[in-house]
Amino acid sequence: MTARPGKPCLLLVNGPNLNMLGTRQPEIYGSTTLAQIEQRVAEVAAGFGFEVRPVQSNHEGVLVDAIQAARQDCTGIIINPAAYSHTSVAIRDALSAADLPVVEVHLSNIHTRETFRHHSYVSAVAEVVIAGAGPAGYEYAVRYLAERRP
Ligand code: DQA
Repeated sequence: MTARPGKPCLLLVNGPNLNMLGTRQPEIYGSTTLAQIEQRVAEVAAGFGFEVRPVQSNHEGVLVDAIQAARQDCTGIIINPAAYSHTSVAIRDALSAADLPVVEVHLSNIHTRETFRHHSYVSAVAEVVIAGAGPAGYEYAVRYLAERRP
């Protein structure tokens, strides 16, 4: 991986329907909002000297564009692809092309849920997969990327 100048940046990607966190199926996803998650990730990352670039979209191409752009100036990617985990070769290919360490996060444990959620296209290109830890999973992802050796 080539060195990138400036303050290290982590791209934080959240996929479709995660803008609804807080009110969306709280029995599965909890009551924490996406804004609260992004705030907490920024705080934890700042403690390690990282900046965070948060992106949430319900549109696959927007997520692909953000991942492509991260290649220029980010040092790692935290991604909850949400439903696109189970469908998107495009997001997987973008992550592969980004040539950055990827941590895949799911709030719920996708392996204890419906069968169609058990497979993620992203997992094969992620260094780490965290599922079922709730919002804390994002914090663990920051810590992994901050302490990871290049
Ligand atoms: C999710 C799990 C996915 O199966 C689902 O489509 C989501 C959220 C999670 O964080 O648990 O939208 O990624």
